[in-house]
Amino acid sequence: MRLGPIGLGTPMVLAPMAAVTNAPFRRACRSHALRALAELGRDTHASPTWAPAGLYVCEMITARALVEDRESTWRLVAADPDETPRSVQLHGVDPATMGEAARLLVSRGLAHHVDINFGCPVPKITRKGGGSALPWKTSRFVAIIEAVIAGARAGSEQAGLGFIAPVSVKIRSGIDDDHRVDIDAGLAAQDAGAAAVCLHARTTAEYYSGSAHWDHIGALVEVLDIPVLGNGDIGSAEDALAMRDETGCAGVEVGRGAQGRPWIFADIAHALAGSPRRSRPSSDEVIDMIRTHARDLAQWGGDEGHAMRDLRKHLGWYLRGFRVGGDVKRRLARVGSLAELDDILGEIEPAQPYPAAAEGLHGRTGHSRRPKLPEGWLDTREVDAQAMAVLERAALEGEFSY
Ligand SMILES: Cc1cc2nc3c(=O)[nH]c(=O)nc-3n(C[C@H](O)[C@H](O)[C@H](O)COP(=O)(O)O)c2cc1C
Repeated sequence: MRLGPIGLGTPMVLAPMAAVTNAPFRRACRSHALRALAELGRDTHASPTWAPAGLYVCEMITARALVEDRESTWRLVAADPDETPRSVQLHGVDPATMGEAARLLVSRGLAHHVDINFGCPVPKITRKGGGSALPWKTSRFVAIIEAVIAGARAGSEQAGLGFIAPVSVKIRSGIDDDHRVDIDAGLAAQDAGAAAVCLHARTTAEYYSGSAHWDHIGALVEVLDIPVLGNGDIGSAEDALAMRDETGCAGVEVGRGAQGRPWIFADIAHALAGSPRRSRPSSDEVIDMIRTHARDLAQWGGDEGHAMRDLRKHLGWYLRGFRVGGDVKRRLARVGSLAELDDILGEIEPAQPYPAAAEGLHGRTGHSRRPKLPEGWLDTREVDAQAMAVLERAALEGEFSY
């Protein structure tokens, strides 16, 4: 699969997840995929235009925070020195700010690929016309894509990259069943110059509930010439194969299936290569992964307490299905240092085999809900005066987060 100038040796992508896909988690996922490639006797050498193990996207970054030069946001986009190609997702509603953020990221060597978030269903974002609400307003959607492409091009030239960093978009199927956007947004993105489209095949209203509509992915594949990344409900290598076979998508994008199971990328790499080998780590192996993840987080953020707060959510995901006592769970939920973590993990019954309960998707599910949109948003796909006022206000506020 190709994302413009970037070749993906394995057509799989770690989906951007806010507060999850930072550099240490991306490293964990990548390292399993690289292990699988080595097991398969494949070349593992990466470059800015060659991703043997696929792409691992940084969590969504608010464009305005970069343009305003907020140090905490720059820390979030920090990549591992050996992480390449580097992939970052931007979010914002203002074309000029989005373009400038893309230029900054690429010119500073922090991104070789920029993805745009048009899929976020969180009310505080959609209510301001952002995330998955935005593709409904076609002219603004296209203006943002064009601005990000121009910014990525300028940044690539400034950095002397030798290629133009490609831009992709991540969309949902629509606002709700009566207001689908996937086909026309995909076509508009392609016309605007996007290198790929990732479709999370649920509407905003569906949030994370029910099953993703893989038929929407297949329909998009039918109409687009650029690659489509299929996203939604891949919880195993077998799911990845099934999605590829059912939809014809060029690549698969995996979110929740990687939570606590970074080895899913090794399994998918094996599966795509026709190999039956799957990772079935024991409790001891998972605990080793946790220790490495914890050390990487502490080193990356430079603050052990903060690293442990980040790690806590991963601990539940990693240990799902293993026998872990209530007292150990409670202490892990409050763990404050690496030394304490080591002590508590040491109390978990050793050598437990991989539990069947670890299979499947972790994290968000929930119910469908009425999308929170700006007043009158669905009345027209034009950016009328009312929508313009909302977008201008949102562009100034800039402080979006999950
Ligand atoms: C905790 C969490 C954070 C997320 N953050 C983002 C984000 O920053 N940007 C984005 O485009 N999607 C985000 N998503 C959506 C995922 O990228 C993905 O589209 C969705 O989870 C469906 O894929 P899955 O079934 O493989 O999880 C997030 C999802 C979760 C569960």
